[in-house]
Amino acid sequence: MSVLLIGVVVLLIGALSWYLLIATEGVYLGRRVVIALYDLYARRYDRIKAFDEAWELQTLAVPLVKALQDVPQPLILDVGTGTGRLPYLLCRVPHFNGKVIGLDASGRMLRVAAEKLGKDRRVGLVQQDATRLPFPSQTFDAVTCLEVLEFLPDQAAALAEIARVARAGAPILLTNRRGLYARLMRGKVQPSEVFAESLYAYGLEEVEIETWQVEYDLIWALKAARPEPEARKREETP
Ligand SMILES: C[S@@+](CC[C@H](N)C(=O)[O-])C[C@H]1O[C@@H](n2cnc3c(N)ncnc32)[C@H](O)[C@@H]1O
Repeated sequence: MSVLLIGVVVLLIGALSWYLLIATEGVYLGRRVVIALYDLYARRYDRIKAFDEAWELQTLAVPLVKALQDVPQPLILDVGTGTGRLPYLLCRVPHFNGKVIGLDASGRMLRVAAEKLGKDRRVGLVQQDATRLPFPSQTFDAVTCLEVLEFLPDQAAALAEIARVARAGAPILLTNRRGLYARLMRGKVQPSEVFAESLYAYGLEEVEIETWQVEYDLIWALKAARPEPEARKREETP
């Protein structure tokens, strides 16, 4: 009987640990745990993700560069850049002559990004939290944030910051989680239609959902030329 009890307790602890640390990547345990887990996995991250470079170029970097074709030397911010997925792809688009700043709170993820990106002068890396972007309002010609928002304790603050640092008319590229893991992340992930609709309150417009991966939709939007009064107020308050 007691052996059975111990077995059940061990099983429950195992299931709870899997849920809190693997399935939801520490998000219910707070920011520090999320970052510590990414620090821990940094060296294995690219191997685990097994990115398909050609497909990623075609679905992320090429459309982004195309959306910026009228901007000479565009300045792009990638929030939660991790191991530099988006900066790496942008630098592989022929004739990309802009600059991209990859921002992340995990020092070890950024270290891997720095190793991958070498000394490419088009890329800068910054260690900082997504909810406190260290840039003046309306700095960037485009802002991206891929596979990050659901891991933030304060997603609204990050979205407000993303909208604040984007220039009027700037393309904004986000992801929204879907599928089984999204269903496990109660209060952190909404259906893409609901998430897309919520972005207008941050001063974004022309929001479009694109089916992308089994686990993520892409959300394309533009920073409105004249954001809603609420979003404008946020932008004016440092
Ligand atoms: C799933 S990875 C995505 C990385 C990259 N965007 C990609 O698509 O491969 C999530 C990233 O968000 C970062 N992150 C989590 N919480 C953060 C926070 N509060 N501020 C900044 N970055 C954060 C993690 O360190 C990690 O690099």
